[in-house]
Amino acid sequence: MSNITDFEHILIEGQNIKDFINSKATPLKELMTYYKCAMMEVETKFKVLNQEFSLEYDRNPIETIKTRLKSIESIFDKLVDRSFPLTVKSIEENLNDVAGVRVICGFPSDIYSLSEAFLKQDDITLIAKKDYMKNPKPNGYRSLHLIVEIPIFLHNEKKPMRVEVQFRTISMDWWASLEHKIRYKKDYVITSEIAAELKICAEAAAVLDNKMEQIQYKIQSNGIHGK
Ligand code: GTP
Ligand code: MG
Repeated sequence: MSNITDFEHILIEGQNIKDFINSKATPLKELMTYYKCAMMEVETKFKVLNQEFSLEYDRNPIETIKTRLKSIESIFDKLVDRSFPLTVKSIEENLNDVAGVRVICGFPSDIYSLSEAFLKQDDITLIAKKDYMKNPKPNGYRSLHLIVEIPIFLHNEKKPMRVEVQFRTISMDWWASLEHKIRYKKDYVITSEIAAELKICAEAAAVLDNKMEQIQYKIQSNGIHGK
């Protein structure tokens, strides 16, 4: 039993994950706390940027910020799915989305302004960027995804932690939320016809986003005369 990890014990002994967390998993609990702290740091950075932008432009670019910590069950499933080692170390090394922050903006241009301002900060390291706004996924999904590293300061060390940040407009977000619900509907397989209809909805949402943005530009540039 000497070189068997705690995670493997669960499989071997058929213990449930709850028992595992409660009894054996101090390092796992610690790691989850670190992810939570990193997520809070990122959230605070966006709250600060939102305040600052609102002073400068008299409006808030961020509608909502959502945070989520991946559940132990999902972490476990993902490690198994991708054949990564079932260890606490492997979570840090192989998973980028344990801590997730979703920033919902009013307009597409807000996403680029905010993400640039965020990435310019000297404690943020960009690990990966996927621009599904410029290059939407074949199913129509749009969003800007960043994987970043942010340090958290513990009593005796500075620890870089990975956080996934997803930027969406309100309309990208409602589309993704509904598409996700439809896709994971129990006992239902998406036909190519439904997939095509969902894509049409995503494209219509993108057209509306751009139209709303043009209206916003007009109002901003005519603001003084309009009064
Ligand atoms: P994982 O699926 O998380 O392992 O990451 P990946 O390497 O496929 O990364 P990607 O950046 O493409 O997707 C990460 C996250 O974006 C997903 O977990 C979802 O939250 C979201 N996402 C990506 N594609 C879609 C999509 O087609 N529909 C919806 N609703 N969400 C999506
Ligand atoms: Mg994910």
